[in-house]
Amino acid sequence: MARKGIILAGGLGTRLYPMTKVVSKQLLPIYDKPLIYYPLSVLMLAKIREVLIISTPEATPLYRVLLGDGKQLGMEICYKVQDKPNGLAEAFIIGEDFIGEDPVCLILGDNFFHGQALKKMLLEAMENEGATIFGYPVKNPEDFGVVEFDEEGKVLSLEEKPKNPKSKYAIPGLYFYENDVIKIAKTIEPSARGEKEITAVNNEYLKQGRLNVKVFGRGLAWLDTGTPSGILKTSQYVEMVQSRQGLYISCIEEIAWRNRFISTQDLLSLGKEISSTEYGKYIMELAKDDLKNPRKS
Ligand code: G1P
Repeated sequence: MARKGIILAGGLGTRLYPMTKVVSKQLLPIYDKPLIYYPLSVLMLAKIREVLIISTPEATPLYRVLLGDGKQLGMEICYKVQDKPNGLAEAFIIGEDFIGEDPVCLILGDNFFHGQALKKMLLEAMENEGATIFGYPVKNPEDFGVVEFDEEGKVLSLEEKPKNPKSKYAIPGLYFYENDVIKIAKTIEPSARGEKEITAVNNEYLKQGRLNVKVFGRGLAWLDTGTPSGILKTSQYVEMVQSRQGLYISCIEEIAWRNRFISTQDLLSLGKEISSTEYGKYIMELAKDDLKNPRKS
């Protein structure tokens, strides 16, 4: 059973108006690539190969232009529309046929993650049963889903945007579930803001004793892209790390190649398509180095 991936890239982006009046939020640039590349790369780091992108009726065709059927990355990418922002948990109902009998990972299209520990944590979550979510300390937990622990790390409560948060641990928009999430999502009633809340889904797993929560600690960046200054700061972070290390963050072509979803020749062709950019040159460089000194199979 291969876990499927869903990127929810819906929403009206009203908090970013006028930037998002005509452009879908997850198509806005974070430094040198569209925002959606970042969550897509997280799914790819988890070795997920089949991805469903859910967005608004207007934006879905644009994501298809950007990423196509995924073959160029050795993946399968498909698309579905969410007519109205009815909540994150609706993703599993919209994605029911796509998920089929498999487990699934949902990532929100505006969530940015980076750090050395990330891949290992993702691969561990891929092996877990039940549900796996994460906790990340922030200064403004009231703006997120919040998880409360006891001293042994046992989860005591989960609350969606509480006025008085019981802990500083926000729940990032990255969730791993067994296949019964589809059934659970169908039972969730809309909240006061009219949405099928993901926190209600997680509370059901908690009630059943099937919820794992892992803490993202120091050195892992989960950055906010929900405000203009968040977009700027995240862009500066990407620029800083890339220019310092010469290693790209969320270069989906590179990850596809490192995962062996595509060959070195494929990588070279992808680089050539955008050879006038630094991004394209980086990809071509990776491919050319490998052609000189091939990686071991
Ligand atoms: C959503 C979830 C919230 C989570 C957040 C992460 O909030 O409802 O639990 O902490 O994503 O980005 P929203 O972006 O819908 O306000």
